[in-house]
Amino acid sequence: MLQREWVVGAIQKIEADFNRCADTHLIPMALPGYPDIAIYFKDESSHPTGSLKHRLARSLFLYALTSGWLREGAPVIEASSGSTAVSEAYFARLLGLPFVAVIPRGTSPEKIAAIEFQGGRCHLVDCPSQLNAESERLALELGGHFMDQFTYAERATDWRANNNIAESLFKQMALEQHPIPTWIVCSPGTGGTSATLGRYVLYRCCNSRVLCVDPEISVFFDFYRGSKQGQADRTMTLAQGSRIEGIGRPRVEASFIPGCVDTMLKVPDALSLAAMRYVSKRLGRRVGGSTGTNFVGVLRAAQSMRALGHAGSIATILCDGGDRYAHSYYSDDWYQRCGIDIAAADQLIEQAVEGQEVLSGLAVAGNGFD
Ligand SMILES: Cc1ncc(COP(=O)(O)O)c(C=O)c1O
Repeated sequence: MLQREWVVGAIQKIEADFNRCADTHLIPMALPGYPDIAIYFKDESSHPTGSLKHRLARSLFLYALTSGWLREGAPVIEASSGSTAVSEAYFARLLGLPFVAVIPRGTSPEKIAAIEFQGGRCHLVDCPSQLNAESERLALELGGHFMDQFTYAERATDWRANNNIAESLFKQMALEQHPIPTWIVCSPGTGGTSATLGRYVLYRCCNSRVLCVDPEISVFFDFYRGSKQGQADRTMTLAQGSRIEGIGRPRVEASFIPGCVDTMLKVPDALSLAAMRYVSKRLGRRVGGSTGTNFVGVLRAAQSMRALGHAGSIATILCDGGDRYAHSYYSDDWYQRCGIDIAAADQLIEQAVEGQEVLSGLAVAGNGFD
């Protein structure tokens, strides 16, 4: 088949797939300590491949196809902490392309199984900092295309609209008491979601502010704080990968755009995971770790709104479900191995939910919460 014919057919397949999909739900949650603040979770776990990365994978494939980077039969390679790879494997199979996921060795066995279930092959690397170089090498060796989500996430997503997460969220808020959220809370993996949210909010002239919450082992917060002080250091790196899968990076990624984020918060992993357990308990089903990180941001923002006497709404993202982490975040052994005290963190989150100001000590950068 001619290359152009194949590309047009591939785009049509993705568009038809999109047409068969429903939008994700927006779930309200009342918090006992904050009667005047409405909380909403955009449930991205309900995509066909189980996470917010379904939107990104669709956008990356369309971007690569319309840029002439994909060819019939040529493999697609991606560096991922797992979720993006599950979603890209789905789209690669839809187009009949082989897919190789380059993932850290510690990736949860459930995610590896999900990638393989979608028809992908997993290529494990020992150190998260090797992901990109190994993906580039494999793409050369196999004559394929390295998708490179960490570079292209922010530009592959159509931030003005086209059913991006921001447009969908604002539509679903339309009939609420406070339809324009005071805060939208997210956490950075590629940084693509925060860029889309920040750009959309400005483009639509909304007063919402974007709070981006960084997990414990990640460079984004320090990079962001430096960039706000005129000292952006893109070279900073860490030897270790994040324990909260999907978010936190050992190097500054090109898709993370500090100008799209109003405020950043640094959250210890123990708190993220206690918050994850709280949200799971309230929803009656398990959510993933990054949803917990987001919820800590929600609690911190709610605390500041209440202190200022403001009523309103806060929206955040339920990034993925927790069944992918049965062997880690939902296993006592894992906490013992990591030396994380579950009880102390659970107590702090319970206190925060009840309205006690126990999160004021978390590090904040950017415009703060005033
Ligand atoms: C589970 C999960 N949550 C959150 C994110 C962060 O999203 P983004 O890459 O748009 O910054 C990711 C990204 O990989 C993820 O996998």
